[in-house]
Amino acid sequence: MGDTPSQDAARARHVAIIMDGNGRWAKKRGLPRSVGHQRGVEAVRKLVRSLDGSGLDCLTLYAFSSENWKRSEDEVDDLMNLMRKFIKSDLQQFIDNKVRLKIIGDWQSLAPDIVEMLEDALEKTSQGSHTVAVALNYGSQQEIARAAAKAAAIGDVNEASIAANLDTNDLPPLDLLIRTSGEIRLSNFLLWQSAYAEMLFVDTLWPDFTPEMLETALDDFARRERRFGGR
Ligand code: FPP
Repeated sequence: MGDTPSQDAARARHVAIIMDGNGRWAKKRGLPRSVGHQRGVEAVRKLVRSLDGSGLDCLTLYAFSSENWKRSEDEVDDLMNLMRKFIKSDLQQFIDNKVRLKIIGDWQSLAPDIVEMLEDALEKTSQGSHTVAVALNYGSQQEIARAAAKAAAIGDVNEASIAANLDTNDLPPLDLLIRTSGEIRLSNFLLWQSAYAEMLFVDTLWPDFTPEMLETALDDFARRERRFGGR
């Protein structure tokens, strides 16, 4: 990801979303958390299908953090199984809609069958014109530490060399970061990349987030004045 934010404030190119609130969505309805996650995947599916008309080059989604391993074994299994099902059911849709899949985070250490499915999906979608980056087993501090170690290995530690070694190095600068469910924190997501990003915290629980809400957020972004530290 380039280290200079887009100066074209009129149009967001890269939006990232912390998809929070699946559990509360389910609890409010007396349903198991797993149903909340299933409905969360539905919201992802609708959003990805709407991307073509949004003008976005990249949508980055926080699907599983390196801290999510602390959840119960059942919930972790549910999330991994949803990932498997999602790749199986939606890969062709990605290819047909020219969506390039990208994975950020330490995804190579996930279960071997998931790694294999992801490698296949990455290859089959590599020619896509816009990108959906999914953060899997992702932690931003770990990503920065990995990037700094790589930069140090070539004896060249500076802002540009660290940015060049981040998982996001081929993505456009992050314009807008959205978090759903009313929580106001970054939870170890895209800390470096957020340096100049606009932030939007909405109360909507993730399963209720719609493509229309993203569109409203993009319209809102287009009206914000971004100064990147200047005046
Ligand atoms: C946060 O809700 C959500 C997650 C930890 C997982 C996000 C995953 C998905 C939306 C589905 C998987 C995505 C793909 C791309 C297949 P929470 O459980 O923390 O909610 P709570 O804070 O209300 O308990």
